Amino acid sequence: MAVSAPSTSSQHWSATTYAANAHFVPTLGQPVLDLLQPRSGERILDLGCGDGVLTEKLVALGAQVVAIDSSPDMIATALQRGIDARVMDARTLGFESEFDAVFSNAVLHWIKDDPDAPIAGAFRALRAGGRFVGELGGHACVGAITVALVATLERRGVKDAVSRIPWYFPTAEDYELRLERAGFVPRTVELIPRPTPLPTGMRGWLDTFANPFTAALPGEERCGFLDEVTALLKPILCDADGRWTADYTRIRFAAIKP
Ligand code: BEZ
Repeated sequence: MAVSAPSTSSQHWSATTYAANAHFVPTLGQPVLDLLQPRSGERILDLGCGDGVLTEKLVALGAQVVAIDSSPDMIATALQRGIDARVMDARTLGFESEFDAVFSNAVLHWIKDDPDAPIAGAFRALRAGGRFVGELGGHACVGAITVALVATLERRGVKDAVSRIPWYFPTAEDYELRLERAGFVPRTVELIPRPTPLPTGMRGWLDTFANPFTAALPGEERCGFLDEVTALLKPILCDADGRWTADYTRIRFAAIKP
């Protein structure tokens, strides 16, 4: 429940960089854990566990957790925490009617090419009556950051920079429809604005999450590119004391397999 999506987008994941710049992702996962209400003894699938920081909380509550992530580096870190963690693509989950709940935090927005695939996999993985509870970026999430990345790339001569956006940020209506089409009965699907303080500033965020954009440029241009994006965003996302806040929105949802 944290992080890494299938590598369709040239995004690469380092557990070390993630821990340094994005430890707020699992920390801010508490509301979706509260929505899940995990009970001791339940079998829970953590879809996109990242380095396992949030997974540990489920285990501490007495759940029997299987955690999957597409990043071998993240899974290695989760295994060091003693978690039953496996490298697996969220689009091709191989579980059948065996979990009481499927949980996901901050990973489903990385599956832009086929957002229905993890929903279908979660449905298959659940027993009847089981619940799918999660959170992902919502419509207009990191809108200012995305515009700055795309405009700066195009200024440097990269054509069709919009096609490099790696994220799927749905509206609540879109996500609810997808859940229903997969067979779920949605209980709640909410779009929540969540301005998010960045502990290591915009540069730390870009170093962690903007690889699909920087990959369009030769190595020697990348640092200048990130400086330019940061300068463009400063008047909007950085306050007078130098504190950066990203323009996040979330979709938080809970749905039942009938
Ligand atoms: C997230 O981890 O929630 C996130 C990552 C990249 C862009 C927006 C949100």
